[in-house]
Amino acid sequence: MKYKPDIQFARDLNKDNEMLAYKEKFYQDDDRIYLVGNSLGLLSKSAEKEIMRALDEWREHGVEGWTKGEPAWFWYGEKLGDMTAPLIGAEPEETIVTGSTTLNIHQLLASFYQPEGRRKKILVDELNFPSDIYAVKSQLAQHGNESELVVVESRDGRTLEEEDIIAAFNDEIAIALLPTVLYQSGQLLDVKKLTEAAHEHGILIGFDLAHSVGILPHDLSGAGVDFALWCNYKYLNAGPGAVGGLYVNKKHFDRKPGLAGWWGHDKETQFEMSHEFTPAEDAGAMQISTLPILSSAPLFSSLDMINEIGIEKVREESLNRTSYLAYLMAEKLDTETVNYSIVTPEDDSRRGGHIAVKFEREAYRISKALKEAGVIVDFREPDTIRFAPSPLYISFEDLYNAVEILADIINQERFEEVTKERGSVT
Ligand SMILES: Cc1ncc(COP(=O)(O)O)c(C=O)c1O
Repeated sequence: MKYKPDIQFARDLNKDNEMLAYKEKFYQDDDRIYLVGNSLGLLSKSAEKEIMRALDEWREHGVEGWTKGEPAWFWYGEKLGDMTAPLIGAEPEETIVTGSTTLNIHQLLASFYQPEGRRKKILVDELNFPSDIYAVKSQLAQHGNESELVVVESRDGRTLEEEDIIAAFNDEIAIALLPTVLYQSGQLLDVKKLTEAAHEHGILIGFDLAHSVGILPHDLSGAGVDFALWCNYKYLNAGPGAVGGLYVNKKHFDRKPGLAGWWGHDKETQFEMSHEFTPAEDAGAMQISTLPILSSAPLFSSLDMINEIGIEKVREESLNRTSYLAYLMAEKLDTETVNYSIVTPEDDSRRGGHIAVKFEREAYRISKALKEAGVIVDFREPDTIRFAPSPLYISFEDLYNAVEILADIINQERFEEVTKERGSVT
């Protein structure tokens, strides 16, 4: 698609854009351009309604909400899992909404990591999110296998080469845990290729979908992925600290949960209160505790919305926005003042939902100046600013205006007016 660098072109792009009907469904401040959909998605009016519905049910039914809620709270995890399945290319019984990203990593590793003979290692990459690495290290430690961590290195400190990951696969590796989209650079990995190669070496492979769920389609079952997990508070707009989700390939339904809890019990007999644990016969077995109903309710609206649009359409709209954003930066930013480069791969097939920009200097102050001017982005150490335009509520004109503000900050060196002092959340 050919773009033009003027506001009229942005307005023309907006004119026929069906997604703008969804923008109205979110709470937005007219003075703010919210580009952190990959961190915490915005509140929609329908998500708010779902929370209010759950509150009303609590007020009205008390404990009976577990059966009298509509839908019954008791089955929320399963129902939300069914609604998530089309987004990740899974069957409904392979998908369950439960726990949180890190907790689900613990559960899945506790269930899938069974070191045996030479096969004791867990493979990760050096660019993965810290919490994933902490979880892997602590799971290795549970088995006295602290030294069995294999870390695939990045060549450029920003992206990974699938061939480097595959070259590190061998018969000493029990499990590979990788991101679908790298949280910093926004690179999208080739899940199918990695899964096939892992299986050729007898390795079980799991993916963290935190930065891809709700913004691009997946084909987890088609690719034969063994397990996956994610959060629902980024592109799925389910709210701060909302409940997470996980996927278990049905070929592993006979696997016992490593961390058993009553919510993973076969639900038909859960309330018989037996001390013998009878796990659910599907991914539901991986649930541990009572589902947090108030933080799960908003997800109904987000999943309804994305299923109505279609995840393929969301992806198309997302790619249009990130490529337009990259184009505008190339057109409008003065590289003399602050040298910058986009570290997210340009190729659509290797790009997730955000653009990460590396600045040779002053990245932090630029991010702060952007926020002060109403363009909400996030800064990641040491030199990167991430721009994540959710197509559900960010228009082409928003992107045009955001880049105009960024250009003003950079080209006029306005970041010099901002203090260097750091906040605790950047
Ligand atoms: C890739 C990735 N993994 C793990 C986490 C941690 O998530 P949680 O706090 O939900 O466990 C995050 C949080 O942003 C993340 O982006």
